[in-house]
Amino acid sequence: MPTYVTTPIYYVNAMPHLGHAYTTIVTDTYSRFRRLCGDEVRFQTGTDEHGEKIVEAAVKEGVSPRAYVDRISAAFQATWPQLSVAQDYTIRTTDPDHVQTVQDILQQVYDNGDIYFSEYSGHYCQGCERFLTEKELVDGKCPDHQVAPKEISEQNYFFRMSKYQDWLIDHIKANPEYITPERYRNEVLSFLSEPLEDLCISRPTSRLTWGIPLPFDENFVTYVWFDALINYLTGIGYPDGSDFEKYWSVAEHVIAKDILKPHAIYWPTMIKAMGLSPYRRLHVHGYWNVDETKMSKSIGNVVRPKELVDTYGVDAVRYFVLREMSFGLDSSFSSDAIVARQNSDLANDLGNLFSRSLTMVVKYAAGKVPAADPTSEGPAEAELKNALATMVSGYEEHMNRFEFHRALQAVWEVIGLLNRYIVTNAPWELAKDPAQEGRLQTVLYSLSEALRIITLVLGPVMPEAAAKMVTALGLDGRMENVTLAEAGAWGGIQVGTQVAAPQQLFPRLDKKALAAGSTQQAAPVKKKARKEEKKKEISQDGLVSFEQFGKFDLRVAEILAAEKIAKSDRLLKLTVLLPEERTIVAGIAEHYSPEELVGKLVIAVANLKPAKLMGVPSQGMVLAAKTTGEDGREQLILSTVAGSIAPGSKVA
Ligand code: MSP
Repeated sequence: MPTYVTTPIYYVNAMPHLGHAYTTIVTDTYSRFRRLCGDEVRFQTGTDEHGEKIVEAAVKEGVSPRAYVDRISAAFQATWPQLSVAQDYTIRTTDPDHVQTVQDILQQVYDNGDIYFSEYSGHYCQGCERFLTEKELVDGKCPDHQVAPKEISEQNYFFRMSKYQDWLIDHIKANPEYITPERYRNEVLSFLSEPLEDLCISRPTSRLTWGIPLPFDENFVTYVWFDALINYLTGIGYPDGSDFEKYWSVAEHVIAKDILKPHAIYWPTMIKAMGLSPYRRLHVHGYWNVDETKMSKSIGNVVRPKELVDTYGVDAVRYFVLREMSFGLDSSFSSDAIVARQNSDLANDLGNLFSRSLTMVVKYAAGKVPAADPTSEGPAEAELKNALATMVSGYEEHMNRFEFHRALQAVWEVIGLLNRYIVTNAPWELAKDPAQEGRLQTVLYSLSEALRIITLVLGPVMPEAAAKMVTALGLDGRMENVTLAEAGAWGGIQVGTQVAAPQQLFPRLDKKALAAGSTQQAAPVKKKARKEEKKKEISQDGLVSFEQFGKFDLRVAEILAAEKIAKSDRLLKLTVLLPEERTIVAGIAEHYSPEELVGKLVIAVANLKPAKLMGVPSQGMVLAAKTTGEDGREQLILSTVAGSIAPGSKVA
């Protein structure tokens, strides 16, 4: 199957930032995923280089538009490899073949009678580079740019967009996947419930010359959106290139909500007027804010991809944006949030799983994946195999629907299960008993095999880390050109494969050191904005935000053992499963005897900074309710969990 997927072509009036990076990472991940499904993939990105905004920016810098667009488009192109983005084609709207294609299409649509000349007066928003309808204005202003539009009256060429309105409504209604997530489909349908106006597709050269000349009237250049959207065709060689034949009917566009209208209304009607079949799907995501505030130059909180990668590493950045944003909704970026994900999901859950498992294969099986012993396989292995099969199908389904955070959740559920599998099966205990040799081999085989499948599905998300994982698993050269269908099934790792304990895959990040060492992550928020942020930490009414609460990693902990700490009346040393084994010192000795605690499922804060209490290291805290007993003394009652639930389960 072919797949054709595109990012928007970015305006070169600003340098690349987190928003551009996100759309491009998403598109790259999807294209890698479709390749893993065996597709022939074409992934295109590029830059939008015509129009008034660009001229304005060039004038500001005192250079020609040409010199200006060359410089900024080069900056975009340099960004993609830093983000491990591997596009197949990068288009610029100043490319001669694109100029030619736009002119050919204009001529064709004009000849067919769908472009006409007329006088128009309306509210023109410079920021949007288009006329806004009366209904779109809020208090007389453009809601996006917060400025009153100019009243402009001029003669221009118009595209008969209204002619295709009914067709478009029918098409969207008949194809529920055409625009997703659903909220954007509904937004478009609601917009289409009012009569559509025709689209002004020219600008007089008296006002703008930096554009593609209309082939049928030299006094006009093409409106930037009519020019820009056509990039999706030029890039695959429309009208007679073989790639056009192969890829057009499967085209999928990825955009943010800001450019929904041009993509969901202008573009399909333009395509229809050209006599082509519609693109297959439009995927619309929300906006990245920074520390809950809109990203903007004036606030000074614009997040640059290069600085992100330099600070956190490319894998953490890619994982973070894909895991953190529910595709379609807005999200907030903060350095706290990315550090928390790196430390908990990557360093703790995935990194530890990898290094523990492979270290054990090295230690107990001379580094060679041992054969599982069928006679010693039990329900734990059945559960693992089942969980991996469910993960692979869930992952595939979610990735296809652009639900990246769900796909990753599914993978991390299995990572949690594997960490618990290690603790429950304790290979270090099995290794002590020669009679358990078969069981030990089964456990080590199962871990290696599960890691192989996890590595496979993480490839599209974190290509660099996955490559290191492949090497550690001794699978160099064996994971390229494999498909999810074959390689995602249990049993693919060859017995005897030589593994090596990996060097640290994901370093734990220390926030303080980062803030001290980094010139940018802490720096860009200017003083005033930072003050606002501080205020937000705990608002005056004592309320915490969802985000702040989310920083606590609350988990179910099973108490394995409890003992008194010498010289302390208050403290007990608890050994808990979280799901890995940890020690937690709790001030509950006056309220519970050690014996009654064993086997209890309690709630623990798993990401508390380690501390020493009476010389005993404590890695967490258990939660308890405080009350006053009948004797008037304070009483603590542990918050326990009813029912059977695996230790390590998240409390949300
Ligand atoms: N040139 C047009 C697109 C033409 S496509 C035929 C344009 N360019 S843009 O540089 O403004 O890029 C807009 C796109 O950048 C958004 O749709 C989104 O993909 C990305 N983002 C820019 N800011 C963003 C956020 N703050 N958050 C998420 N993505 C955003 O519009």
